Amino acid sequence: MKSTAVAPSNIAFIKYWGKKDEVLRLPENGSISMCLSEMTTTTTVEFSEKYKEDEVIINNQKEELEGSKAVKHLDLIRKRAGITTKAKVVTNNNFPTGTGLSSSASGFAALTMAAANAAGLKLSEKELSIIARQGSGSACRSIPNGFVEWLDGDNSNTSYAQSIHPSEYWDIVDVVTVVSTGKKDVPTSAGQKLAVSSPFFQIRKSHMKNKVKLCKELLAKKDFTKFGELIEAEALEMHAIMLTSTPSLIYWTPGTLQIMKLTKKWRQEGLEVYFTINTGQDIHLIVQSTDVDKLQKELKELDFVKNIIVNHSAKGAYLIQKHLF
Ligand code: PMV
Repeated sequence: MKSTAVAPSNIAFIKYWGKKDEVLRLPENGSISMCLSEMTTTTTVEFSEKYKEDEVIINNQKEELEGSKAVKHLDLIRKRAGITTKAKVVTNNNFPTGTGLSSSASGFAALTMAAANAAGLKLSEKELSIIARQGSGSACRSIPNGFVEWLDGDNSNTSYAQSIHPSEYWDIVDVVTVVSTGKKDVPTSAGQKLAVSSPFFQIRKSHMKNKVKLCKELLAKKDFTKFGELIEAEALEMHAIMLTSTPSLIYWTPGTLQIMKLTKKWRQEGLEVYFTINTGQDIHLIVQSTDVDKLQKELKELDFVKNIIVNHSAKGAYLIQKHLF
């Protein structure tokens, strides 16, 4: 059977950085995110006896099967469905891949949903989230709708994401600012392993439960100022862990730093905007919907800004009838 799914990328307000179980991808702490409306992956999967080996095409490029994470993920689904049938996978992102915009989150969420359906599995949202997590941790947060919490869990069945508010709950906007098209030099999965080597990692770990709780409280109150302050400080804390790991990880480029500094300046001038950054140079600017035009105007004046993607909160992964092949 052939199935196609669309999944959004997501932006973490409270970040996942460091794993307590490498194979199962159990995170050291819980995290909170929002699904992004304009950054999606569409994936079609077909299991069929006509395929003699798996074929995976990502953004029009055929993937090497040796060591392919997508094939490993198909194996998880095949095991669950009790089949050995080979598959063809075609997947497209509508936004830059490998620059820190979490294409692995939307990618593995879409692959999980499309492959599970194509294999004839009828799975709950929780079960899909658990499987997506094993492809890329943050992918588990791209299955449920809107504002999402990933419960860290202490085993595979208790580590999954669930919606805490639907997408229409709060119209805050993530203006993704692309400052360079270069791909990051250290993949996220390799970076994650270094987290524990930072002397500050245990300190971070000790207060993450409270941070998740506080973030949920501020979301419940829709207190934009306190929420913005919290998520900006959280992004900087995660990057402090990266900067002090051995070897150190520096994902920022001059453009990233310029936007960080400008964010503070714009705030002083009355434009209430906060930044957050993942593993890459591109930067997410969080504003209330009433300030989007003002922010866009500022960004359009900067010649080093390559692209701007205005995201609202979105629903999680879903199936569609239009296939890619
Ligand atoms: O899911 P991964 O392995 O791509 O890791 C995601 C890590 C961050 O994007 C930096 C943080 C997060 O929670 O999304």
